[in-house]
Amino acid sequence: MEERIKAQIRRIVGERNCLEGELDRFGYSYDASFVSLSARHKPEMVVRPATVEEVSHLLSLAYENEIPVTPRGAASGRTGGSIPLAGGLALSMDRMTRIWELDEANMMVTVEAGARTADVYDFCAARGLFYPPDPASWKFSTIGGNIAENAGGMRAVKYGVTKNYVMGLEVVLADGTVINTGGKAIKNVTGYDLTSLFVGSEGTLGIITKAILRLIPMPKKRGTIQVMFAELEEGCLAVQQMLVSGITPAAAEIMDRICLTAVAKHKNLTLDSSFGACLIIEIDGSDEKELERQTKAIRAIAEGLKAFRFNVAQDSKEAEELWAIRRGVSSAIAALAPDRIGEDISVPRSAFPEVVRRINAIAQRHNLTIAVYGHAGDGNIHPSILCNLKNPEEERRVHKAVEEIFDAALAVGGTLSGEHGIGITKKPYIRKALGDEGVKTLRAIKEALDPKGILNPGKIW
Ligand code: LAC
Ligand code: ZN
Repeated sequence: MEERIKAQIRRIVGERNCLEGELDRFGYSYDASFVSLSARHKPEMVVRPATVEEVSHLLSLAYENEIPVTPRGAASGRTGGSIPLAGGLALSMDRMTRIWELDEANMMVTVEAGARTADVYDFCAARGLFYPPDPASWKFSTIGGNIAENAGGMRAVKYGVTKNYVMGLEVVLADGTVINTGGKAIKNVTGYDLTSLFVGSEGTLGIITKAILRLIPMPKKRGTIQVMFAELEEGCLAVQQMLVSGITPAAAEIMDRICLTAVAKHKNLTLDSSFGACLIIEIDGSDEKELERQTKAIRAIAEGLKAFRFNVAQDSKEAEELWAIRRGVSSAIAALAPDRIGEDISVPRSAFPEVVRRINAIAQRHNLTIAVYGHAGDGNIHPSILCNLKNPEEERRVHKAVEEIFDAALAVGGTLSGEHGIGITKKPYIRKALGDEGVKTLRAIKEALDPKGILNPGKIW
């Protein structure tokens, strides 16, 4: 980047909001994905705009000079979405964190993209309103990042994912033009649904700067239940039976034996070795009676499937402890091996047991350990390969296994990603899922909105 352009950028956001030192740029060269160190790419400059006008000025300058721009929330993404592959600018949204407006009459909140998801949740919850999407990263991830990746989370089974709550967006296009999509009207078919187009677009079509989010009344009561089974399959069947019988849990999370052992090791607990699966369920409703009714029905289903243990949390502390097991599973299994490749396939709910069987067969075939946990309530599974990528022979087996996991997901009618996006890590497989014509259609949209290819280049395909 020419010094002349750098000077213009410094003028737009102020010198102290431009990070140019080696160490700073290194800090913005990676995210929470499993992209190996060699693939880290430092941006030439990190910029921290504070307003949509600044974002717009930055983009028009970048457009004119064909400088790559990679937007970045909290970099908690798992597929490399915020890694500045082509250098250029890392556009950090960390100064755009304002909660702009809470419209209680319409039950909507307007927030800047850099606002932390948990802060938005807390702000609304204090006023009796509920923003349900809760990706595992919600304590640090941002609304903009959640929208760009269409993040899911635990509560998706009952409440849906991020896209179900985005009513409208303020977006800065590649050339700096600012547009507003959607709005507060519930019904809206005025032109193409651009809001939906930007949701899940992984920073490749525009920079999301503000969002209007739909809220719902906060459920009055919540309950947490832990059920232990001998096999993962029984846990999956329990969830299926609940849903079919009309009990929709707010969350239904499952972990296999490897995950349980990892968590026990991590937390210094002793574990009964007959436990092969753990289901953590959240139920909610308007009063205790409703929770009791749901608990009773779930208990009957669990007993029918020979559950070992049925543990209803007695207070919020116990509930928090149970959820800490689930939220801690990712780091607990990561500690089991030098490397971990965590995937994010999504399959029709009924195919959950079948795809788990296939994953186990893949693990055996390639002599690998693959831990399985995920969102059993909506068929979104995180198979995690525990490995040592420094061993080239093992690395080859791991790559083969990853490909076969995607093939297994597609074979049962599922897809490559439920909530982490494609980014860099799943690029090689997207054609398998969408076909040439599907990818061509995505490309046509990309070319229409970003003709110079400056927005998050190198992602998705
Ligand atoms: C989770 C993240 C990895 O569910 O999506 O823990
Ligand atoms: Zn997840």
